[in-house]
Amino acid sequence: MTRYLIRGAKPLRGEVEISGAKNAAVAIIPAALLVRGTCRIENLPQISDVFMLLKILQLMGAEVKTVDSHTVDIDCSGVTRTVADFDLMQRIRASYYLIGALLGRFGTAGVAMPGGCNFGGTRPIDQHIKGFRAMGAVVETSGGLVEARAKGGKLHGSAIFLDMASVGATINLMLAAVLAEGRTVIENAAREPHIVDLANFLNSMGADIRGAGTNVIKIRGVKELRGGFYSIIPDQIEAGTYLAAVAGTGGEVLVRNVIPKHLDCITGKLQEMGVDVVDGEDSVLVRRKEPLRCTNVKTMYYPGFPTDMQPQIAAVLATAQGTSIITEGVWATRYKYVSELEKMGARITVDGRIAIVEGVPKLTGARLEACDLRAGAAMVIAGLCAEGVTEIGHVGYIERGYENIIGKLRNIGADIMTVNYPGEQEDEILDAM
Ligand code: EPU
Repeated sequence: MTRYLIRGAKPLRGEVEISGAKNAAVAIIPAALLVRGTCRIENLPQISDVFMLLKILQLMGAEVKTVDSHTVDIDCSGVTRTVADFDLMQRIRASYYLIGALLGRFGTAGVAMPGGCNFGGTRPIDQHIKGFRAMGAVVETSGGLVEARAKGGKLHGSAIFLDMASVGATINLMLAAVLAEGRTVIENAAREPHIVDLANFLNSMGADIRGAGTNVIKIRGVKELRGGFYSIIPDQIEAGTYLAAVAGTGGEVLVRNVIPKHLDCITGKLQEMGVDVVDGEDSVLVRRKEPLRCTNVKTMYYPGFPTDMQPQIAAVLATAQGTSIITEGVWATRYKYVSELEKMGARITVDGRIAIVEGVPKLTGARLEACDLRAGAAMVIAGLCAEGVTEIGHVGYIERGYENIIGKLRNIGADIMTVNYPGEQEDEILDAM
């Protein structure tokens, strides 16, 4: 098994380049199923979730050609299979986007239920299913499989009101609607940057989607989509993770290839904690010289503070002066990582959706196990801040979403490396994200 070994308590300095957005990439790759012709997708992050989705498409009959390390050509014209590989599908949460894409293109889909309750609670997809049904699909879930079929072979547009602004349901219903007959209106839609990115991708291939980025998205079905080029936006959460790391360790880093506007919800919080942040055109300079101050954080849908930054900000607040209160507003619970940070001396008390973080003067290195992607990122940050050596296992979680995290951190002065333990088994299946 591979582990990360970190010798902490060193300030970070230099420049780091942010990769393409994971949560946009995992929506745009399945969206290529809707296109007749070749989609060239640029700025794809090199992460295992992307590799896995490309593999799933290939197994379904798509032609996938690597153009360079961050660009692929995907041609789904020859896809005939409407049932996706069960084993691979279970390994990646975003595989459920294949339901919307397959239903939209073929009027039928057979897809494994996304696995995982890795935050310690359930991750239902009832809103996705409600929307497909409103568009004329019969949907059955049994034996770990979701089977969906459009009555009469084709979906029709519909008005859908989501009970919560679910990112996954908004994306899945957009995918189902672009080739449906008539007009679909998604109300209480999610507004995350990757929703806008998916709409821009689909529109550039000939779709008619309006309102992405607001809470009402209107989609007029078109006859077909044609191939084209598209470049994925930078990853808001990867950028936020590096900003948080510098806030924790101190130092000065220029975070490049970002959309500063997408980071406002994160940089605003860091400023409250005494961190200097200067926006450039497509970069953010982060600098911390003063001791960190405590603050309160409530995670919310975009443009609120992202839940996918909650564990990382907790790791930083662990050594801030005073007591901070974190409220998780998106997931019922997302604090499995807390027991690991406690091994390093962090003082965090969890009660349901709330975590009370009492800042301690320092963290001390310990042997930890990552339990999901962002939890793993939080442990890396804690290790970078801590005195002594931190060892992190189950790093496969981290590599699902962070391209070359070791290389990028070493470049800005972190003492981090991978070590291999030949006697220990690599994780076969990780909980899906
Ligand atoms: N929900 C329902 N029913 C549904 C859908 C969602 O009750 O049908 C609830 C969920 O249980 C949760 C809330 O609504 O409490 C939000 O869920 P959402 O559907 O927005 O989340 P998701 O689409 O499953 C995506 C990201 C997550 C990120 C959330 C929230 C992807 C592949 N995943 O998940 O990202 O936490 O949105 O922003 O885009 C990550 O990148 O680390 C990650 C977990």
